[in-house]
Amino acid sequence: MPVQTDAPRVPRLGHATGLSCRECGNSSPLGPYYACEMCFGPLEVRYDFPRLTRADIEAGPNNIWRYAALLPVPADIADRPTTQPGYTRLIRADGLAAELGMRRLWIKDDSGNPTHSFKDRVVAVALAAATEMGFKVLACPSTGNLANAVAAAAARAGIRSVVMVPANLEMQKILTTAVYGGTFVTVDGTYDDVNRLASELAGEHEDWAFVNVNVRPYYAEGSKTLGFEIAEQLGWRLPDQIVVPVASGAQLVKIDKGFSELAELGLVESRPWKVFGAQATGCSPVSEAFARGWDVVRPVKPDTIAKSLAIGNPADGPYVLDVVRRTGGAVADVSDAEVVDSMGLLARSQGVFGETAGGVTVGVLRKLLASGQLDPDAETVIINSGDGLKTLDAVAPTVTVPAMIKPTIEAFQAAGFEAAPLS
Ligand SMILES: Cc1ncc(COP(=O)(O)O)c(C=O)c1O
Ligand SMILES: [Zn+2]
Repeated sequence: MPVQTDAPRVPRLGHATGLSCRECGNSSPLGPYYACEMCFGPLEVRYDFPRLTRADIEAGPNNIWRYAALLPVPADIADRPTTQPGYTRLIRADGLAAELGMRRLWIKDDSGNPTHSFKDRVVAVALAAATEMGFKVLACPSTGNLANAVAAAAARAGIRSVVMVPANLEMQKILTTAVYGGTFVTVDGTYDDVNRLASELAGEHEDWAFVNVNVRPYYAEGSKTLGFEIAEQLGWRLPDQIVVPVASGAQLVKIDKGFSELAELGLVESRPWKVFGAQATGCSPVSEAFARGWDVVRPVKPDTIAKSLAIGNPADGPYVLDVVRRTGGAVADVSDAEVVDSMGLLARSQGVFGETAGGVTVGVLRKLLASGQLDPDAETVIINSGDGLKTLDAVAPTVTVPAMIKPTIEAFQAAGFEAAPLS
């Protein structure tokens, strides 16, 4: 009989070979580690990528697992019970481009994911890695969308979830988390308070995987798939410019990493691209650091309707600054009024109803075009990372709900509906 030991087995995470510190480069083995034992810097996944062709990827499933070879997930991941996120629409946005005087604009519409935000990508990767590392519970502190994604992914996988959010979240995000069951905690505090509580709980419960805390190196890799899909959907090309909303900053940093990996693997032609970050003025610590030329991000207390982006102390803030400065991009912020106005513009000009984070992104797109920092003639992609149905309160005061009429032709005519509305 083989002897049973409690020694942790080496997780089988595809072509991932280990972890390395983003600050000092020190290596760690693959496992449930997230901070460098030398300098406490954040860890990142390392790989020994296989030879991979475009055809290999194109033969894969229509979800993020077509890129499984480039993620820290087991080889049979596509056969496991996951929410199968990704491969969302890349929309040629001629209507919005015309409004803004741009030539070639695309919207990567991640509201089409299973729980209607890009968070399904990162959660699916975190769940795969966490399960492989022996965690039993999927958990997170969240600004809302992550809560939806964790609760749904755990329900699909048949495991327990523990999800914690600030109590002042939009009711739509509360309900669309509660519906999946699991343990759901609303906290009297900001996201940064909830995050701190999660870090303490992660220390107490060794088998709880807080996706964005103790398995963060794996979780963050999921956002590379946004970069992979954009390139593939453009016909295996990189765009000139991309505008990405920033909360913790992980999404922006990993889209850039995704572009770099495709170029290194020879899957796209290597050419320069510029990355731009978008924040709401009421929570704009990275934008402030960019404007002032700082390398560090000074935490703020958020006050904005863009609650999904309300992280006052962003873990990846300094890396966002690195990426935008290295690529020649920028980070900017827009007011809540501009966020709401931009949500309306996106809906009317393009037929896309994005959440407040989408309004932030379109608002910053407009602002940086006006300031000349974005080139209207260059091919541009913007990320719509979530669904407007989850942030209805933001637009409710700005839309006209029509008065009821009787079901007769006369009533229709009398109400003036035959003339085109003024817009
Ligand atoms: C809709 C939406 N967009 C963007 C973000 C920002 O993601 P990150 O924290 O990776 O910067 C979030 C984060 O919660 C989000 O919910
Ligand atoms: Zn280190």
